[in-house]
Amino acid sequence: MLGRPLILGGVIIPSEFGLAGHSDADILSHAITDALLGAAALGDIGMHFPDTDPRWKGASSDRFLAHAAALVREHGFTIVNVDSTVILERPKLKDYRQAMREALARVLAIDMERVSVKFKTAEGVGPVGEGKSAEAQAVAAIVRA
Ligand code: C5P
Ligand code: MG
Repeated sequence: MLGRPLILGGVIIPSEFGLAGHSDADILSHAITDALLGAAALGDIGMHFPDTDPRWKGASSDRFLAHAAALVREHGFTIVNVDSTVILERPKLKDYRQAMREALARVLAIDMERVSVKFKTAEGVGPVGEGKSAEAQAVAAIVRA
């Protein structure tokens, strides 16, 4: 979407367009939030952060992520690592990898060595390949402390 900032992993990426969405549309932070909740079988992002709840209205995605990490810890788990992938045709994101890892690690309160962020295009295929959309995937490992 033209005129919206592109924010991924809490980092503002210089781009002509951003992603549409209720909040800051940080799909990478959302995917990691869901992965953490999922690893602890605590439901999903929409269940914990309904946009009808005034507490979360207009909240930035780092608050969702921090809250999910806290919930996971409250349930007796330690976050081992997080791996993630952003599928986006353009712009190129690799120059922002370290900044994203740092920002995510700070919010998660884990070492950045434990945070992986990968990128790929959809090789021109489908809505993502046509630059109309973007996706993010994440998996998190947790262990009972
Ligand atoms: O998907 P593709 O084969 O085109 O990706 C090639 C490289 O470009 C990958 O190493 C990936 O990290 C990088 N990339 C990027 N930004 C994107 C898509 C891919 O930096 N939006
Ligand atoms: Mg390729």
